[in-house]
Amino acid sequence: MQVDGVHHRTIRVAEDGAGVEIIDQTKLPHAFEIIRLDSVEQAASAIADMRVRGAPLIGVTGAYGISLQMRTDASDFAVRAAHATLLATRPTAVNLGRALDAIRDAVLAVPEARRVEVAYAKAAELADEDAELCRSIGVHGLPLFEAAFARAEAAGRERLNVLTHCNAGWLATVDYGTALSPIYRAHDAGLPVHVWVDETRPRNQGSSLTAWELGEHGVPHTVVSDNAGGHLMQRGEVDLCITGSDRVTASGDVCNKIGTYLKALAARDNGVPFYAAFPYSTIDWSRHDGVGEIPIEERDPREVSHIAGLAASGEVVEVALLPPRSAAANPAFDVTPARLVEKLVTDRGVCDATAAGLAALYPEHQLHSA
Ligand code: MRU
Repeated sequence: MQVDGVHHRTIRVAEDGAGVEIIDQTKLPHAFEIIRLDSVEQAASAIADMRVRGAPLIGVTGAYGISLQMRTDASDFAVRAAHATLLATRPTAVNLGRALDAIRDAVLAVPEARRVEVAYAKAAELADEDAELCRSIGVHGLPLFEAAFARAEAAGRERLNVLTHCNAGWLATVDYGTALSPIYRAHDAGLPVHVWVDETRPRNQGSSLTAWELGEHGVPHTVVSDNAGGHLMQRGEVDLCITGSDRVTASGDVCNKIGTYLKALAARDNGVPFYAAFPYSTIDWSRHDGVGEIPIEERDPREVSHIAGLAASGEVVEVALLPPRSAAANPAFDVTPARLVEKLVTDRGVCDATAAGLAALYPEHQLHSA
């Protein structure tokens, strides 16, 4: 996607062919900074500290993390240790484990002398694949947006109001995004899209990242507090909701950033279609009950008790929000049961949020989802 008219992906190999460059997302929207990773430890910290985040992007960063390790020690032990270090960073998104397994298996299949070359090639393949999958999500999602706009127009409205939660844009992937991919495509196709951007406490990926990237692309948008969505839906000001996902079960339950479930409940109560958009790499075919089976990341309570922002001095400062003796808790994801999801929008097409719907799109997994 474009930043100041220059095409960027969220991750790339540096010109020397060794280091890996990422956009430091903790600096957005106040500064656009590209930083370099040179070791598996730096890659693991970048994921844990959310310099990179979003299910597909942490998968690709993990893949490059193992590649970096191969430069200093490509032994079987080092491969497995790098895999374990990276896997421990964030538990909820399934993309990370899948990408790490793919790199581990690829490098262990060749002699040590070839492991650097094979790891970088496989990581690059995963990055290119993710960009293509996300582009495809946009293609398949566009007709849903066209239909929603036709309904909005028939009801006398002049714009298509979309509500999204967290950041499921190109910053969360290698390029294009998941939930934002059809939004960009609809905007580029001339639909008058306007996006309600949930701020997404506590990390504010909506107000800091989604708002920033929509702005860079020229998509009209308005940031709202996380509590505003139900009210907007009751007043007929939301035509569709679309979010990404960090893990989708074989039965269509959708795990995503905390607060997504409440949006889906409000959408159902108000007859607003709720869609989840994701690539195949987000589907966990081994799980069927999202609420009972998906590990939910508990993050540092400080993300709830404190907040950072740009001060008048031009510096980013952190301030405390709570009385010092109050406890805070920080579950980072929740699960929206499939029954609340109108359709799933994937790289292979749109389907019902059911085991049969997913299995029809990905027949190679039918055995697991039976
Ligand atoms: O904690 P984050 O910022 O990694 O959470 C990201 C999300 O919840 C996204 O919506 C998600 O990864 C899905 S789409 C790329």
